[in-house]
Amino acid sequence: MNNFMLKPLGLSLLAASLGSMASVASAASVAEQAEGILNKQCVACHTREGDNQWSRISYQRKTPEGWLMTIARMQVMHGLEISDADRRVLVKHLSDTQGLAPEETDGYRYVLERRLNAQESLEPALLAEGCARCHSGARFKLQRRDEAEWEHLAHFHLGQYPSAEYQMLSRDRDWFPIMMEKLVPMLGEQQPLQSSEWSSWQQATKTDMKGRWSVAGHMPGKGDLTATMVVTPLAGEDQFSVSMSGQYADGTPLQGSGKATLYTGYEWRANLTIDGVRMRQVFAVRDGQLTGRMFNRNDESMGADISAAHMDGKSTLLAVQPGYIKAGTQSELMLVGTGLSGMPTFGKGVEVVSIRKDSDRRMHVTVRASRNHEGVNAVSIGKAKGVELAVYKDIDQVNVVPAYAVARVGGNGGSTNKLFARFEAEAWSAGKDGQTGTADDFRIGMVPATWEARPFDDIAAADNDLGFAGRLDPRTGVFSTADAGPNPQRRMMTNNAGHLTVTAQVQDGNQTHSADAELIVTVQRWNNPPIP
Ligand code: HEC
Ligand code: HEC
Repeated sequence: MNNFMLKPLGLSLLAASLGSMASVASAASVAEQAEGILNKQCVACHTREGDNQWSRISYQRKTPEGWLMTIARMQVMHGLEISDADRRVLVKHLSDTQGLAPEETDGYRYVLERRLNAQESLEPALLAEGCARCHSGARFKLQRRDEAEWEHLAHFHLGQYPSAEYQMLSRDRDWFPIMMEKLVPMLGEQQPLQSSEWSSWQQATKTDMKGRWSVAGHMPGKGDLTATMVVTPLAGEDQFSVSMSGQYADGTPLQGSGKATLYTGYEWRANLTIDGVRMRQVFAVRDGQLTGRMFNRNDESMGADISAAHMDGKSTLLAVQPGYIKAGTQSELMLVGTGLSGMPTFGKGVEVVSIRKDSDRRMHVTVRASRNHEGVNAVSIGKAKGVELAVYKDIDQVNVVPAYAVARVGGNGGSTNKLFARFEAEAWSAGKDGQTGTADDFRIGMVPATWEARPFDDIAAADNDLGFAGRLDPRTGVFSTADAGPNPQRRMMTNNAGHLTVTAQVQDGNQTHSADAELIVTVQRWNNPPIP
């Protein structure tokens, strides 16, 4: 992508501003304030078409990040002048009244959660080629509008970015007519302004965030975690203070606090400082439970997958940590949830040896798995279920996740931070038939591994990419990227880019499994908008 124009606003900072609306005055409601701003700041260019109706603005729905980007674009491209505080009010109001239903974001939350190594597959190929070669497909998959508005969008693209027509994947065809005749009607049909999901979400009872939450998570390079999260309402609408306290499976503590805003009744955005690191939470909240990702704002590769449940007395199971046991062995597992009481069951071939409960959200259970059973067992305690334990005889295959990663140089006095890469070894069982690649294969989970990097090819070897691009921790699988900037020690004083193969070795009894991933270490991402 060569023509993003939002650099002057520092969009990654913009994204962070989504979590802290606390400065919004609570005197007038957000809706009243927002209407005032729309009527004052936007009508210079957008026609007021009636009560609460403005040209273009009232005919699209999107995520908080989507609204933020549109308004920021008004500032950068069209000279809109708006204070940060007013922009926050507008983003909040527009996401509340013209947002997406939870179901409408399913499958595309990876961009919001900043899973930057996600690989997209868009259907049909024409859509991917026409619309997802400059930015992610999720950018428009997370929008709803009717055909006329999709058409305006296509016009805006061609007007603003004429290179759209002569880039690769468009200069070989009649791009604009294809957009108009095929893609615009298709988008209008598949992603229309009105939807039954959105109508019913607007009627739905929303989760009250206030109170204590039981949290389970997993952070690549670090391991499983559990915590409690306490949410306290602040003066403004849907504003909260939030604190977290817990620990990782290796015993290190996890502690911190910050502020949050809830958009659209379920889009939780928080900025916290956890153990001295500025972290951001992007969660979706539904029916008293939340899921999402908490990541380092300066290095988005560092993050934990999180699930949590409100501790309101209901019994819930969030996780069993670790989620696997080897047949014929005994080990201690931890159940994480809310209202845990009674005797847990772990399915066929797994018997409970002893229980050590440390609260009604965490239970340590020593279990013994028989030599004869393997498979994916359902775990339950009382009425709570929905969690699985993989019982395996042998590890038959290992995959590195992600199989293809991009890390970026940074720091060294520059304005852009380093982006690391974090690898995990995912173990699989071949199941009963002993053959991998068949239907009865099952995932065991992320297992400990030792890590090694080597040059990807002869060119990488000749340029000593291994020596320059960064360092892979042999224990954790975390690749720490090297400094930005030209390096006088490299051929042609190039920067510390590189192309490496990353190998995991996993020990299972006296068997060793190994698997590879590809790592590209490249230059900084100068434009890093909230939705890539
Ligand atoms: C100085 C003129 C100007 C002002 C002020 C302005 N806009 Fe716009 N807006 C435009 C133009 C021109 C377009 C069409 C081209 C484009 O999409 O960039 C547009 C398009 C839009 C769109 C459609 C974008 C899309 O994705 O199709 C939205 C939504 C929007 N503006 C919102 C706002 C809001 C909200 C404000 C006030 C906070 C605002 N605009 C203020 C000029 C302006
Ligand atoms: C030539 C590169 C290019 C192509 C091709 C392209 N886009 Fe974009 N798109 C951009 C740029 C640049 C922006 C604005 C950058 C920003 O706001 O960060 C943008 C912004 C957008 C937005 C956000 C607009 C808003 O204000 O809400 C949507 C939605 C979008 N594109 C959808 C599409 C669709 C649908 C297609 C195919 C019809 C398409 N794009 C093709 C470059 C492209």
